[in-house]
Amino acid sequence: MKKILAIQGSPKGSSGNTDVMLREFLKGAQSKGAETETVYLKKLNIKHCTGCFGCWVKTPGKCVIKDDMANLLEKVRQCDLLVLATPVYVYSMTSLMKAFMDRMLPLIEPHFVKEGDRYKHPSRYKRKYDTVLISNCGFPEMKQFDALRHNFRLREEMGHGVMVGELLMPAGVLLKVEGLKGFLEDHYQAFFRAGVEVVEKGRILPETEQITQNRFLTQRIFLQWPTAPGMKGWDGWI
Ligand SMILES: Cc1cc2nc3c(=O)[nH]c(=O)nc-3n(C[C@H](O)[C@H](O)[C@H](O)COP(=O)(O)O)c2cc1C
Repeated sequence: MKKILAIQGSPKGSSGNTDVMLREFLKGAQSKGAETETVYLKKLNIKHCTGCFGCWVKTPGKCVIKDDMANLLEKVRQCDLLVLATPVYVYSMTSLMKAFMDRMLPLIEPHFVKEGDRYKHPSRYKRKYDTVLISNCGFPEMKQFDALRHNFRLREEMGHGVMVGELLMPAGVLLKVEGLKGFLEDHYQAFFRAGVEVVEKGRILPETEQITQNRFLTQRIFLQWPTAPGMKGWDGWI
């Protein structure tokens, strides 16, 4: 059975747009027998990495900061698939997600190895997990995800989790706008199907990823929103 750990990094937690995508994705995965757990970073006490490198030098594999991260790292070590779900904040991830990712430093070794023409820090542990990125942003254009995607590609290249899919939705702010759910039916189905695919096929299929990246529907709605007929102003957005 696939063990999926979802790390949710929106400051809005379960009431935000990222969570709509994540919940559908996990429902799809559960329908194929995956065991899932969602961790809301906003509910945890995760301090910033202080850059002391204690987890490399003084107490290898263990961070000197005593907070909720130790328990979370244990969960990361046990999962088959790590889902990192964050909205775009200032062209990248939220600070909650970044703090979490910085604090993953104990999972890698301090020394360098050379693979091909790349230098890497090897993993401290043998067990590997794959990664899925789930994100949405305010603007109706894929370009807003460039920095975030680049970050995840580098992470993969450096050997920290093979990317098996990215579920991205530009203009994700529309997800919670009353009256729009019907327009976004294809998106909802794709979120669910992505969860199914990741269990059945080991990755999200490119055609499923494409559906949630569709700019045309969302851009059309976006330019009329919130004054378009049938829409109740800004209701549902905040
Ligand atoms: C501080 C802040 C920074 C943001 N930066 C961006 C941005 O750079 N690009 C963008 O398209 N949307 C940006 N947004 C919009 C969010 O990505 C959008 O509201 C998203 O739906 C939030 O997801 P959530 O409801 O799960 O928190 C920003 C929002 C906030 C509050």
